[in-house]
Amino acid sequence: MKNGAPTLLSFLMIALTGVAAHAADGPAAPQGDARSQGASIWASRCSACHDHAQDRIPPKVLIATTRAPEDIIDTLTLGVMRPQATGLTADQIKSIAVYLTNKEPGPRASADANLCKAPADPKLTPHDWRSWGRDLTSSRYQPDGGLSAAQVPHLKLRWTFAFPGRAAFGQPAVVGDMVIAGGTGARVFALNAETGCTYWSFYAGALVRTGILVGKLTATQSADHIEHIAAWFGDDKGILHAVDARDGNELWSQRLDSHPIARLVGTPQLYSGVVYAPVSSFEEVAAADPKFPCCTFRGSLVAVRAGTGEVLWQSYTIRQPATAISGANGKTLTGPAGGSIFSAPTIDAKRDLIYVGSGDSYTSAESDSTDAILALRRSDGKRVWTRQVLRNDAWIMLCKGQSVGNCPAPLGPDFDFSSSPMLMHLRDKELLVAGAKSGTVYGFNALTHGDILWQRPLAVGSNNGAILWGPANDGERTYFATSEYSLERQEGPGVLYALNPLTGEILWRTPTPESPCGWGTKNCAHSLLAGVSMLPGVVFAGAMDGHERAYDAADGKILWDFDTGQRFDSVNGATGYGGAIDYGGQVIAHGMLFVISGSMRQPGNLLLAFGPE
Ligand code: HEC
Repeated sequence: MKNGAPTLLSFLMIALTGVAAHAADGPAAPQGDARSQGASIWASRCSACHDHAQDRIPPKVLIATTRAPEDIIDTLTLGVMRPQATGLTADQIKSIAVYLTNKEPGPRASADANLCKAPADPKLTPHDWRSWGRDLTSSRYQPDGGLSAAQVPHLKLRWTFAFPGRAAFGQPAVVGDMVIAGGTGARVFALNAETGCTYWSFYAGALVRTGILVGKLTATQSADHIEHIAAWFGDDKGILHAVDARDGNELWSQRLDSHPIARLVGTPQLYSGVVYAPVSSFEEVAAADPKFPCCTFRGSLVAVRAGTGEVLWQSYTIRQPATAISGANGKTLTGPAGGSIFSAPTIDAKRDLIYVGSGDSYTSAESDSTDAILALRRSDGKRVWTRQVLRNDAWIMLCKGQSVGNCPAPLGPDFDFSSSPMLMHLRDKELLVAGAKSGTVYGFNALTHGDILWQRPLAVGSNNGAILWGPANDGERTYFATSEYSLERQEGPGVLYALNPLTGEILWRTPTPESPCGWGTKNCAHSLLAGVSMLPGVVFAGAMDGHERAYDAADGKILWDFDTGQRFDSVNGATGYGGAIDYGGQVIAHGMLFVISGSMRQPGNLLLAFGPE
């Protein structure tokens, strides 16, 4: 295994991040001597645990592929590995981060730079954007965002904020004059929406990948019997956090799943005093290591009391726990496993149901609940119906073309549902419209347990996701972003579509223009992976090429195009630089548009705030 590991590691790094080869576009390329210093510290201080990973100890490959160098430095200076780093200098700590990731840490502002003079005074208004989908139905539609379609072509950059990291994941929430954004390293920031000054930041202890959810806790709901405006978000260790939006103090935190490498990616949703949080895992990646005991994780939705974090129920996608099965090459594995939930749940208040989309399997033990839309009873999480669109889609990273180790046979295409199903009421119809990584959009009949009314293939599917983080709708039409991104070629086209939700008919399609990327020609893909958002008459979509664009909802004409892939002076002092837009995308509230730029695929550290001229 000694010889095999580095190959696997370097493969994984390129496969997952796609950025190792062009560090010159972001921070400088790492120095050889820093790497060898890091290697020797790793061997003496870290390897005893991490090269024999078990239980909660993440394997080296997992750290190397899912953590930015800045995250590793934070873990060793602020986080769980502080004791293991006792006595190491800042330089030695940096050398470990460079050794593990083969990347130089980027410029960073202090978390306390540019603090606001006055404390935050969060107030909920009907015009906020406080959850992933903005409403319970996951429309991602802002009916009254204080910004008209006529103003959109005149949007101007007001300020930028540079996160202390290189890959911005989550989606911000806007509440009154505050914007709360996480997603870089393990920190969540609350900023003033007008000026970008920092009200507070919160160190979560692990990468925060979910979007931010904000809502009210009444005195009867909260543990201290005081009313709070709270922000909820989840981290890469499967922990859900609730903080006070006024000062960033933690109200509670709760681990949602006992599985050692469970994580939270989908944004939680709030309804009637309960937070519903989706749970996913790293097993699909970790199992690429043939030594990893594959696989036991089952995706779930967990309901907790919003005020205390007390778990009310946990509803698993896969119905039964894993048991011993025989793998492709006679190896004993465990399964079924998988069925992660990566997206915010959708609430059907009328029927008291919750809809979620699930991901693939990790083993060839079949389940009826993977790559499916599930309807759960809100009161207790009991399954009401299950609509699977692809059977036996078992996938583990790096298994293409081989049936070694944990690789399932046959290997599936990894066609997860990774975005929220949208609930739509049209005439006498009630529909769920959802797109999968396969590139196909489905119309499900919500009145008849999810019968498939229509399906429309829009793009060639892949494990990168032909439809990834989510569509929007304005109550009449749906708008889907598609991607044919190829990791190997680090390029690929994207198209924005408008569909009739009753039939799946294509109303218009606009291919992403082949605009140059601010960082150069490498890794300049025009795919659309990020979530789409809307105002009346306008669709916003961010692209892998770093451009944020506004489209006319009537005909798909591009109304506005801003290149975020450049360097900017940030309000908090550090150099800001934009990269690919490929996750949460943009939110609109109170006359402003907020965009996150920078991802694991093309680094960047920006939150950009736009307002009309
Ligand atoms: C005694 C065993 C042990 C040693 C020695 C050790 N670690 Fe860890 N490490 C762990 C465990 C256990 C976790 C998971 C902790 C958790 O999830 O709460 C972890 C987690 C981590 C993480 C991931 C944290 C995150 O963000 O999720 C990093 C990075 C890490 N260790 C780096 C190191 C480095 C670098 C060293 C050497 C300086 C080191 N570790 C030494 C046991 C160890």
